[in-house]
Amino acid sequence: MQNIKSKIDWQSWLQRWDAQQTGYIPHREARFQAMLDAIELQMPAEFVALDLACGPGAISQRLLKRFPKARCVAVDIDPVLLAIGQGALGDANGRLRWVEADLMADNWMEAIAQTQVDAVLTTTALHWLPPHRLLQVYKQLAQLIRLGGVFLNGDIMPFPFHLGTFRQISKTLSARQEKQAFQERGVEDWNSWWQALAQEPELKELLQERDRRFGERYTDYEPILDLHEAGLRDAGFREVGVIWQIFDDRVLLAVR
Ligand SMILES: C[S@@+](CC[C@H](N)C(=O)[O-])C[C@H]1O[C@@H](n2cnc3c(N)ncnc32)[C@H](O)[C@@H]1O
Repeated sequence: MQNIKSKIDWQSWLQRWDAQQTGYIPHREARFQAMLDAIELQMPAEFVALDLACGPGAISQRLLKRFPKARCVAVDIDPVLLAIGQGALGDANGRLRWVEADLMADNWMEAIAQTQVDAVLTTTALHWLPPHRLLQVYKQLAQLIRLGGVFLNGDIMPFPFHLGTFRQISKTLSARQEKQAFQERGVEDWNSWWQALAQEPELKELLQERDRRFGERYTDYEPILDLHEAGLRDAGFREVGVIWQIFDDRVLLAVR
């Protein structure tokens, strides 16, 4: 990807992205912190991480700030979010590399041009994949992450269906929190954020390309926690478990 010369205020779009995402996930920063705490305690000072389905690079930004000797590869399919990330964060003095790839494609790992990484981190993203594909991606990650390396997934991972009360409580709480954010505090929501971004004339072609890539894709699978855990164990991760949780918002750690 080329550096984008533009008059767009990329930083502002990144901040608005973070604010919008926090409307849906009120404990988003605490979740990032838990993930990075685990990284700090498991990684050497120098390591290579993959920010999987990075969007505009929320994980990469925080990881590179906290670990000055780390390097990061940020991968996503969305050309608009990648442009915002690249515009706002650049290449972090050669420590950050942006890659376009579609996790739905079997050969997506070829695009990252990295035979091995120490850690893979992802947030609010893998529920966009259908369950059969999620399980395949977990198998691929088990090949990519070195022995002793880690995978961290921060996302809504719903309770299993037999815990109907737990599911109901979590869904009701989330609906209430979204109402408080978007209706009462006036936080910009997902649709408003994209509509506002569409007013940037420079982004017209990238937005069209985004529409082409996503087409009619369904993006809200929300596989239950048990599926994630079983999929990671089956893929070859030695230790798998939740290290942070508020209702169904969780961080799952898997050690290779
Ligand atoms: C809600 S955003 C989260 C972005 C970022 N991780 C964060 O927490 O701010 C979900 C991201 O998953 C990406 N994504 C969804 N399906 C994908 C796929 N098949 N391949 C690559 N990225 C994908 C989207 O483009 C989007 O950037």
